[in-house]
Amino acid sequence: MSLRRADDELAVALVTGACSGIGRAIADRLGALGYTLVLASNRAAPIEEAARAIADRHGVATHPIAIDLARPEAAAELHAAVAERGLAVDILVNNAGFFFFGEAVDADLASAGRMLQLHVVTPSLLCARFGRDMRARRRGHVLIVSSISAWRDFPGIGFYGSSKKYLRGFARSLRSELCVYGVNVTCLAPGATATALYDPDVVPVELARRLGVMMDPERVAEAGLRAMFAGEAECVPGALTRAMTLAAVLTPQPVIDLLRRRAPWLRSDGR
Ligand SMILES: NC(=O)c1ccc[n+]([C@@H]2O[C@H](COP(=O)([O-])OP(=O)(O)OC[C@H]3O[C@@H](n4cnc5c(N)ncnc54)[C@H](OP(=O)(O)O)[C@@H]3O)[C@@H](O)[C@H]2O)c1
Repeated sequence: MSLRRADDELAVALVTGACSGIGRAIADRLGALGYTLVLASNRAAPIEEAARAIADRHGVATHPIAIDLARPEAAAELHAAVAERGLAVDILVNNAGFFFFGEAVDADLASAGRMLQLHVVTPSLLCARFGRDMRARRRGHVLIVSSISAWRDFPGIGFYGSSKKYLRGFARSLRSELCVYGVNVTCLAPGATATALYDPDVVPVELARRLGVMMDPERVAEAGLRAMFAGEAECVPGALTRAMTLAAVLTPQPVIDLLRRRAPWLRSDGR
């Protein structure tokens, strides 16, 4: 693997949402580089399986933690769980997330609330808690997984896109604040990636991956870690993704509104 550790003093990485997709690929890459891993996800069996597999493959210590991060107290609990194990986190990867599509006023409000907790509140509070520790040690990296949906507001993804926009802005502020203490903050903004984020009955994930419309999570992970170790502010992996981001930014708002009026996948019985 071409990816290299930036600093041999950094020893422990915490990855949220590490049991599948981009988070698992990031955890695997960090394991290959020799980091001790704290792996957090919602469901116990998948995170334990991921921790076992990565430990077996790379011979590193792994600490699986099953925790629902979509709760107000989750950041404090995870921080305490890491401290109980006597570990100091040098690399924090805020990755856990989920997706749903549909108009904001039709959303399952419990899911919408959980999304805001998971994408906005918990990562911010994890950054504050672990960032404080990193500032005291004068070293560390924070990788925040946003999305290219942070670049433009589209109908159908109001909760998702806006929460990712928040993460992008938060990453920028945090980066300015922590850089003076030797702590780096990088925002990773993937485009469509072939993972369990999408319901395979609705989105033909495997076909999209084979056609190159969706990226492999491993490529996204590699690009994100490379940018993080290089101290870059932002990483949008893949040339197609960058082109799509530019197209989204340049599309005039009336075109987006027109598309929404014609979109068969969104409600139109109100007109
Ligand atoms: N795939 C894409 O196209 C794409 C594009 C841009 C950005 N992203 C972002 O990339 C990140 C990773 O997503 P992915 O594509 O790799 O999807 P994924 O394979 O579904 O992974 C999501 C991870 O988040 C965890 N998670 C979800 N809800 C949680 C909760 N309440 N508490 C703790 N962990 C929770 C999941 O654990 P459980 O399985 O145990 O619930 C899983 O490990 C997300 O933030 C997503 O928004 C993805």
